[in-house]
Amino acid sequence: MTKKSIELENLSVYYGKRCAIWDINVTFQSHSLTGILGPNGSGKSTMVQAILGLLPITSGTVRHQGVSIAYVPQKKEIDLDFPISILDLVLMGAYHRLGWLKWYNKKERSLALSIMQRLGIEHIKDRQIQEVSGGQLQRAIVARALLQDADFYILDEPFTGIDFATEKLLISLFRELRDRGKGVILVHHDLTNVEEIFDEVVMVNSRLVCSGPTKQVFDTHSVQKTYGDKETLLEEASHLFEKVRKGKT
Ligand SMILES: Nc1ncnc2c1ncn2[C@@H]1O[C@H](COP(=O)(O)OP(=O)(O)OP(=O)(O)O)[C@@H](O)[C@H]1O
Ligand SMILES: [Mg+2]
Repeated sequence: MTKKSIELENLSVYYGKRCAIWDINVTFQSHSLTGILGPNGSGKSTMVQAILGLLPITSGTVRHQGVSIAYVPQKKEIDLDFPISILDLVLMGAYHRLGWLKWYNKKERSLALSIMQRLGIEHIKDRQIQEVSGGQLQRAIVARALLQDADFYILDEPFTGIDFATEKLLISLFRELRDRGKGVILVHHDLTNVEEIFDEVVMVNSRLVCSGPTKQVFDTHSVQKTYGDKETLLEEASHLFEKVRKGKT
């Protein structure tokens, strides 16, 4: 299978005057399970949304030509207020492949049901999405992404509100995708299992702190720099920004 990638080059995103991410250079590879790590407000979701084209980029480039991406947003972004069954929600993952008119065929349905069975939500397939628990809904949303046959799967904090057994199950599903050559990118918070889960990490704190194979870059120094040093990094960033701006005028 040919390697695919998503490349961010000098990527900066501002919300109005506030800098959320600044000058990020990183390449996400297929055939890899990558964790995006960083404290609250460090720009992880912003980075992901910029990759997906859901946010305007202030400067820099995102390159992912010819690459398809399945996306599970962070929980706070998910607003499911329409009447639909759990099975139909999962089947929405097949739209891309089939188009609106043909999406409800037998093959897709049985594929959806087998994914739902693995995730333990097959028995609630006919329930309305408003009538299930938070964790069950989260599993259905992940199932919907898994039903897409994408090159990359990007999930923003997929383990939020999910019990331990389901987390283990999801991790094994992500590993299977990786072994089939897919790129799997997770925004992740739990530092205790980073080494166990991820082949590569991208550590951010508004700026890129480091990226690379977990074994090489995930250590006390990078953790401290990512989690303990926000002021310093932001100061450095705005200092640089001023310098660049002055250079331009
Ligand atoms: N829609 C928005 N408008 C203005 N500022 C925003 C908006 N969304 C996020 N921000 C700000 O941008 C910065 C980065 O936010 P982002 O959501 O990317 O962080 P995060 O790393 O995903 O955090 P968390 O771990 O809490 O999900 C934060 O300072 C945040 O307050
Ligand atoms: Mg976030």
